[in-house]
Amino acid sequence: MQKIIIEGGQRLKGEVQVSGAKNAALPLLFATLLTGGTHRVGNVPDLRDIDTVEKLLSILGARVSRQNGTFVVDSSAIQSEEAPYDLVRTMRASVLVLGPLLARFGHARVSLPGGCAIGARPINLHLKGFEAMGAQITLDHGYVEARAKKLKGARIYLDSPTVGGTENLIMAAALAKGTTVIENAAREPEIVDLAQALIAMGARIDGAGSDTVTIEGVDELRPMDYQVMPDRIEAGTFLVAAAMTRGDVRVIGAQADHLEGVLSKLREAGVEIMEEEGALRARGPRRLQPIQIKTRPYPGFPTDMQAQFMAMMAISEGTSVVVENVFENRFMHVCELQRMGADIAIEGHTATIRGCRTLKGAPVMATDLRASASLVLAGLAAENTTEVSRIYHLDRGYEGIEAKLRLLGARIDRVPA
Ligand code: UD1
Repeated sequence: MQKIIIEGGQRLKGEVQVSGAKNAALPLLFATLLTGGTHRVGNVPDLRDIDTVEKLLSILGARVSRQNGTFVVDSSAIQSEEAPYDLVRTMRASVLVLGPLLARFGHARVSLPGGCAIGARPINLHLKGFEAMGAQITLDHGYVEARAKKLKGARIYLDSPTVGGTENLIMAAALAKGTTVIENAAREPEIVDLAQALIAMGARIDGAGSDTVTIEGVDELRPMDYQVMPDRIEAGTFLVAAAMTRGDVRVIGAQADHLEGVLSKLREAGVEIMEEEGALRARGPRRLQPIQIKTRPYPGFPTDMQAQFMAMMAISEGTSVVVENVFENRFMHVCELQRMGADIAIEGHTATIRGCRTLKGAPVMATDLRASASLVLAGLAAENTTEVSRIYHLDRGYEGIEAKLRLLGARIDRVPA
């Protein structure tokens, strides 16, 4: 076990490069299961979740090699159609093997993900979609099993715009017979990235990025050769780091069109945001202003940036409000921020944050991926020393975060716990 130690109070300055997007890389790597042959996926970040994908693809029988962020996956000789509990339990996104395996082999068996730290997170909408496409779904011994000789195109309305559900169904529909229309689809940029990769493989997909996606099934796909998009959540996290430290940071690879909600709220808080060629630059004000955010599916304010913004609000001048609409239990960073002196009150899905002049360094514990990022940010802005333990959560989603922050002037180290 390791922990991160931060001596707070340094103004962050300089340039930082955003890595490939975890949430785009995961479905793209699973999409290699759709057809045999040798796939190449580049700009894949080096993260614990990606190690889990590598393990899972290997268990299924794919041959995987990786070098400098490029994955070469040969999925010709798939021998198993089952994702075991041990892997699904560490990464829920493992359920994304369902769509590709079902479409290609007519069968898939995946352990149910179970509860997770930020809420129940069911997969009922994925399963309802597969059923509409003619699959038979059974639940047994903690596993979900899907069978269909040949999936058929269908009209599917998602009760809520699930990101993983939209991705699973697009992948399945790519090889189905006939046309599938997904209504109330999620619109996240990662879905557009997946659709572009699938189109390059020969899939016929229209409307990805809007709330109606139309997929005309094809008989065959070819292997992909694709570069993963930059990580908008990592980019947003560095922009907040600049904001909270009165810093001046150029985030290379950050795309304004993927971050509209985040940028408008940063500007409202008094952060100067400059759009430059291939980068965004943020300059933090002397004192941050309070703001109100409500998390929503894309293009609304992302739930994956909520915890980081709360750390920022904790040192703003006045009272801020956060309403979390996407996940029911995503305030676990609050107790830890309170240990650093933050004044936060929770009622239901709403957090009210009364800003204080400065946070105080303290030992804190990460509870999930984005919560750990918020604690690191709080530590960067706090007085004295902050120790963040259980940082394996952080390693699920931030590539080399302490090295990147050190380059910006942070005093941050990783040590054995
Ligand atoms: C993805 C992201 C995650 C992000 C989330 C919301 C990946 C790998 N992860 O997660 O970082 O926080 O989107 O932006 O891309 N729901 C149902 N039934 C379902 C599926 C979802 O009720 O079958 C509900 C969930 O409980 C949740 C909401 O829909 O309240 C959003 O979940 P979803 O969009 O599916 O999130 P993920 O794809 O798991």
